[in-house]
Amino acid sequence: MNAISPAQQPRRVKAAFMGSFAVALVVIMGVFATAIYLVEASVRDRDLAERSAAVAKLFAVKLDQDANLMRAVVRTMMDNAAIEEAFRSGDRGELEHNARDLFEALRSDHRITHLYFTGPDRVNLYRLHTPTEHDDRIDRATMLQAHSRKQPVHGLELGPLGTLTLRLVMPWRQGERDLGYIEVGEEIKHVIDEVHDNLAVDLLVLVDKHYLAREQWQRGQTLMQRQGEWERFSSYVALAQTVPRLPVALDESVLARLLNGDSAKIEDGGRSLHMAAVPLADAAGHPIGKLAIMRDVTLLESTFNGYMAAVVLLSLAVAAGVLGVFYVALQRVEKDYRRQHELEHRLLRLDTEHQRLLQMEKLSALGTMVGSIAHQLNNPLVGVVNMAQLAEREADDPARARELLAEIRRAGEDCRGFVRRMLEFSKVSCFESKPTPMAALIEDTVLLFRQTEERHLPVNVQLPDDAPVLNVDPILIRHALFNLLVNAAQATQGVGADTGLTIRLEQQNDPNTGKPGWSLSVLDRGRGIAPEAMDKLFVPFFTTRSDGTGLGLPVVLHVVLLHDGHVTATNRPEGGAQFAIWLPQ
Ligand SMILES: Nc1ncnc2c1ncn2[C@@H]1O[C@H](COP(=O)(O)OP(=O)(O)OP(=O)(O)O)[C@@H](O)[C@H]1O
Ligand SMILES: [Mg+2]
Repeated sequence: MNAISPAQQPRRVKAAFMGSFAVALVVIMGVFATAIYLVEASVRDRDLAERSAAVAKLFAVKLDQDANLMRAVVRTMMDNAAIEEAFRSGDRGELEHNARDLFEALRSDHRITHLYFTGPDRVNLYRLHTPTEHDDRIDRATMLQAHSRKQPVHGLELGPLGTLTLRLVMPWRQGERDLGYIEVGEEIKHVIDEVHDNLAVDLLVLVDKHYLAREQWQRGQTLMQRQGEWERFSSYVALAQTVPRLPVALDESVLARLLNGDSAKIEDGGRSLHMAAVPLADAAGHPIGKLAIMRDVTLLESTFNGYMAAVVLLSLAVAAGVLGVFYVALQRVEKDYRRQHELEHRLLRLDTEHQRLLQMEKLSALGTMVGSIAHQLNNPLVGVVNMAQLAEREADDPARARELLAEIRRAGEDCRGFVRRMLEFSKVSCFESKPTPMAALIEDTVLLFRQTEERHLPVNVQLPDDAPVLNVDPILIRHALFNLLVNAAQATQGVGADTGLTIRLEQQNDPNTGKPGWSLSVLDRGRGIAPEAMDKLFVPFFTTRSDGTGLGLPVVLHVVLLHDGHVTATNRPEGGAQFAIWLPQ
């Protein structure tokens, strides 16, 4: 017999699902957050690139505007007859006298810091900003270009002292005659300030040290009372800026990135600065340095981080909600799963127990059967032995011996009859069904019954108008019906009253399954079934008759079961019993 295995713990459905679901959620949220950060970073980079382009453009526009203003100023001077006379005659005293007021007004109102009167050979006649210095030849790019092109030229000039100025050199001609040049200049600090005001970015003018000499630059810083840091970067120096001091985090590596054309992000005293740089060229077209742009993105970043935190919190809440719902659903599933598992296990155990009981029942039925067979055969055999002994002793009396021999024969016949019934019982398993008209089957059985029955009991057959043709084994069904008729006849023996039998065939659905079928019943008005016999009617060898074998009804049950039918025994209210065979359609 199979040993019952202990109930295995059902797999942890919830843990498995919840684990992978949570991991999936975390991965999705991670990817989502990363994607948003990347998009934000790229938007910020693009914004900075656009701002850098705008800075470069506005810076150039401002320089052009200032150059136009300078041109107008120079024209005004050229129209001044006294200045012209003083210039033509090379009289520095007169130039000072006539141009000083105008220069001072330009210096205070328009930030013009340099004013030169230079001869046609580029030799300086008079500098209003440093009157003591003159007679040197000027060979700055703007002057050289104006000299060769005979046209006004403007552009950025890097001075030896580390000043970056916007210069305009205008040739002064009268008819075919070259009088020389007027040159004006201004420092560009206010230009980057204006760009800063307009575009809300800080600017830093970085110049390549190749274009500067350290001692002169140092001298310039002292003269202009500035505290520039020559050592701050190895190859560049800051000449002008819109911030009071350079950010500490702006080091060589950050500068290298800017020079490379990349953007960089630095932190400075709690502020986040996003940096880029655009090239800066002087009037000669030399790449003298870079215009670095610093954008304060602190507010933008904190706003973004705030939104991001809100989104993450919201996503977490939603994820927690979904997980919760999922958890509850899974809990239910797991509960059902456990219950089912437990039921299956219990069923398995019951089945095993049931098999064991069946086995025991079979063994005990076998024991009963063997006992009954032994009993049934033993009685006549004991008689045979006893009577044979008697016959031996009384062999001299032939009449008595004959009598005893007749007894012995009868006992032998009893044994043979019993064995014959047993053989009939075993034959029942040969089952062969075919379409059988039930009316004819019943008629044949009644005929057979009448031949064997000595009391000529009336048999009333009740058939429906259209008696069916059923798919049955006619020999077995006839045998079963015959057994029921014999039993009914035996039950009515000695009862008197109305002792006729009835056979009834009627259409009837299976009361248990509702399947269509037919009921074939035998009714009598005999003794009825004793209450104590009711449960054992179909048990082999159960009988209440002294000469019965108790195999009639078991045969009926066996036949009916072979036909997928069932048999019921009931006592009738008006007296007698009813045995009904139900057969499927
Ligand atoms: N129509 C009936 N009315 C009352 N009791 C019945 C009826 N049919 C059967 N029984 C009871 O059922 C018992 C068993 O019947 P069963 O046909 O199996 O054996 P038997 O008739 O006693 O012997 P056998 O049929 O082997 O000669 C009978 O002994 C009887 O007590
Ligand atoms: Mg019987």
